[in-house]
Amino acid sequence: MVLKSCCIYSIGVFSILMLILGISLVLSDVFPHFIQSVVKKEVVLKNGTEAFEAWTDPPAPIYMQFYFFNLTNPQEVLEGDRPAVVEIGPYTYREYRPMEQVSFQDNETKVAAVNTKTYIFQRNMSRGPESDLIRTANIPAMTVMEKFKNFPIEANLISAFMRSSGEGLFSTHTVGELLWGYEDALLKALKVIRPELDDVFGLFYKTNASNDGEYVFFTGQQNYKDFARVDTWNSKSSLNWWTSDECNMINGTNGASFHPVINKNEMLYMFSSDLCRSLYALYEDDVAVRGIPGYRFVPPSEVFANLSVNPANAGFCVPAGNCLGSGLLNVSTCKQGAPIIMSSPHFYQADEKFVHNVFGMRPRKEQHQTAIDIDPVTGSILRAAKRLQVNVYVEKISTFSQTGNVRTVVLPVVYLNESIVIDETSAKKLKEIVVTKDVVENIPFMLIGLGIILGGIFMLLMCRQKIPESTAAERQPLLSS
Ligand SMILES: *[C@@H]1O[C@H](CO)[C@@H](O)[C@H](O)[C@H]1NC(C)=O
Ligand SMILES: *[C@@H]1O[C@H](CO)[C@@H](O)[C@H](O)[C@H]1NC(C)=O
Ligand SMILES: *[C@@H]1O[C@H](CO)[C@@H](O)[C@H](O)[C@H]1NC(C)=O
Ligand SMILES: *[C@@H]1O[C@H](CO)[C@@H](O)[C@H](O)[C@H]1NC(C)=O
Ligand SMILES: *[C@@H]1O[C@H](CO)[C@@H](O)[C@H](O)[C@H]1NC(C)=O
Ligand SMILES: *[C@@H]1O[C@H](CO)[C@@H](O)[C@H](O)[C@H]1NC(C)=O
Ligand SMILES: *[C@@H]1O[C@H](CO)[C@@H](O)[C@H](O)[C@H]1NC(C)=O
Repeated sequence: MVLKSCCIYSIGVFSILMLILGISLVLSDVFPHFIQSVVKKEVVLKNGTEAFEAWTDPPAPIYMQFYFFNLTNPQEVLEGDRPAVVEIGPYTYREYRPMEQVSFQDNETKVAAVNTKTYIFQRNMSRGPESDLIRTANIPAMTVMEKFKNFPIEANLISAFMRSSGEGLFSTHTVGELLWGYEDALLKALKVIRPELDDVFGLFYKTNASNDGEYVFFTGQQNYKDFARVDTWNSKSSLNWWTSDECNMINGTNGASFHPVINKNEMLYMFSSDLCRSLYALYEDDVAVRGIPGYRFVPPSEVFANLSVNPANAGFCVPAGNCLGSGLLNVSTCKQGAPIIMSSPHFYQADEKFVHNVFGMRPRKEQHQTAIDIDPVTGSILRAAKRLQVNVYVEKISTFSQTGNVRTVVLPVVYLNESIVIDETSAKKLKEIVVTKDVVENIPFMLIGLGIILGGIFMLLMCRQKIPESTAAERQPLLSS
């Protein structure tokens, strides 16, 4: 009898201890903190870590897709009509982007590297061959006309040359030429007087098997939040294209890596040399990719909004004070003076008027927004799509009869979708981490659960022990009488 109740009481004590331990572990957050500190130690750019390996050579396939806008009514546009375009694509390239010339600096707190990108055409994932013809703005001619519009003598000569060679405001070239470069007759003629000019034009000319300059990144060794953050690009810690210091800042990573332990209230900064600026993304939604839960981050509309919505964007108006409206970015000075305007595809989130001014624009959130799905524990990218549209600013230039009566319009030329989805092998590894984390984080709750169960057993046993005792005590006098 004594042995039995001793056993019952120890169950009770044990259950209370479990409850106390479980609850205090939950309240003190020991296990999540433990996991986070392990991850923070592991996710640094250090020779030998998995994070370093993935950073140097991303294991998942990256695809770059181009969608062109074929102009269907060039004659009418010259007479002042609204341009009408047809989207043609995708033309898909597999993108390889290893980090090269990697060298550690400053006690392993920084690492310098160049990001060499190589594009291989994927015919089986494309609408047609690279020899498909696209009619669009004659960008080299527009650049030249823009440059010489205030020099009547040169303008006359150039205009005469264009007339004789049959060049106009619009031209037709193959997809391959438009992207990777073609020799332009006008540029070639100009080279005679301006030998420093290049006579080849292409939207991505010289970018294949090449890099955009040297980066120095923080390794994240000192602070996990600095993991893969850009310190300098081409030896500069800020840009000089924009008109305010904030806008010229190089913020965040290069968009291909993010620091571990991400929470939903964070602003994730990234710098894109294609876009010539830094920007940030905010949490939008919970997602799952290959069964791994993640956070979706997207750049909010304020990033590209006009001054009445976001006054801080004044610095992106060039020349100072010359603002184009929501959703547009004049990158002319960063693209060798070509009249290039960047936007989201189909002017998604841009001022209505730009969508309206070109027949054939149909902005859709799912297809046209930039989005990054991140594993919040390790900061690994689960899926991402960077989407960007290249437009030209078309306007009538009185010194050039080639511009006819064209109305002022931002004409879309091509949009790109650079995307990545985590590969099977990395997904498996990541899933193990997520499962381990879930199990470890649930240990305190399991202790509490066990405590409750033991407590239940304890009470049950107490009751069963008490009832027979009391009934026996009541019956005894009855029996004796
Ligand atoms: C990393 O370590 C390997 C083997 O120890 C070595 O061959 C390689 O050069 C190192 N890489 C860097 C960037 O230091
Ligand atoms: C890019 O360069 C690689 C290697 O030099 C070459 O194989 C590939 O065809 C090039 N891609 C394009 C689109 O020119
Ligand atoms: C396309 O072809 C490449 C080889 O050129 C192959 O690796 C890839 O799996 C193919 N993709 C599809 C979707 O068929
Ligand atoms: C684009 O338009 C031009 C001119 O109408 C046409 O020749 C060409 O075939 C079109 N391109 C495609 C890929 O349909
Ligand atoms: C860079 O970050 C700072 C705050 O750290 C912010 O004030 C600035 O606007 C950011 N610039 C860009 C271009 O994102
Ligand atoms: C700025 O954008 C907002 C919202 O898109 C619009 O209502 C407003 O008219 C715009 N302001 C200017 C000055 O264009
Ligand atoms: C874009 O910027 C360039 C360089 O500052 C300027 O010459 C051009 O007029 C701007 N374009 C527009 C459409 O404002």
